[in-house]
Amino acid sequence: MKKTIKLKNGEKVIIRHLKESDKDGVWKNFNDVLEEGIYLPVFTPVILEVEKDSWYENIRREKEICILAEIPTLKSPLNIIGQCEISNLEWEAATHVGNLGIIVSQKYRNMGIGFTLIDSAIRESKILNNKEKIVLSCFSTNKSALHLYKKLGFQEVGLKKKQFYMNSIYYDEIIMELWIDDYLEK
Ligand SMILES: CC(C)(COP(=O)(O)OP(=O)(O)OC[C@H]1O[C@@H](n2cnc3c(N)ncnc32)[C@H](O)[C@@H]1OP(=O)(O)O)[C@@H](O)C(=O)NCCC(=O)NCCS
Repeated sequence: MKKTIKLKNGEKVIIRHLKESDKDGVWKNFNDVLEEGIYLPVFTPVILEVEKDSWYENIRREKEICILAEIPTLKSPLNIIGQCEISNLEWEAATHVGNLGIIVSQKYRNMGIGFTLIDSAIRESKILNNKEKIVLSCFSTNKSALHLYKKLGFQEVGLKKKQFYMNSIYYDEIIMELWIDDYLEK
């Protein structure tokens, strides 16, 4: 799977699978979003090579899906501006379920990149990993993410009150899921 989308400003974005040489770009993008401090329930940036290597090896071993958005005219690590991962759950009896995570670099939001990343990752997770259902979780305050997930057809199936505490603020966690066959039918 590899496709190119053209943004309104004319810039081209390549949507494709992860390669080993993308590790620094992926984690730079993650650490930048982490610094925004309101979207991810994590405090510690990933900086060490050994952490990045272990993440990459895990994806390879587990054959997990990681779809990237790349600006081909930019040099690594600045070229990776979005990523969507569909990972396996820890349970042996839940191999038909994938857990979705996504981030898009602040400068490139609200241009449709998130939509294309999730759409591609969902399709690839069925084709390559036989996934049937995708689950995700999101802060209840994350309006753009919730809008995007609902637009794609994710349904809210639960809410954990005050599940996260960051910078003196409690956040409720919303749990959503989507059946891939229903998604593909639409
Ligand atoms: C959530 C995220 C991945 C979306 O990526 P994106 O590339 O901006 O997604 P898209 O452009 O495809 O869609 C964004 C949608 O949100 C809408 N939106 C933006 N701000 C909004 C708001 N305050 N309220 C409601 N909708 C909003 C946009 O209009 C757009 O919808 P549309 O296409 O129907 O007009 C991106 O905002 C992001 O990385 N955020 C920080 C990390 C994060 O929150 N990750 C998810 C954690 S659960």
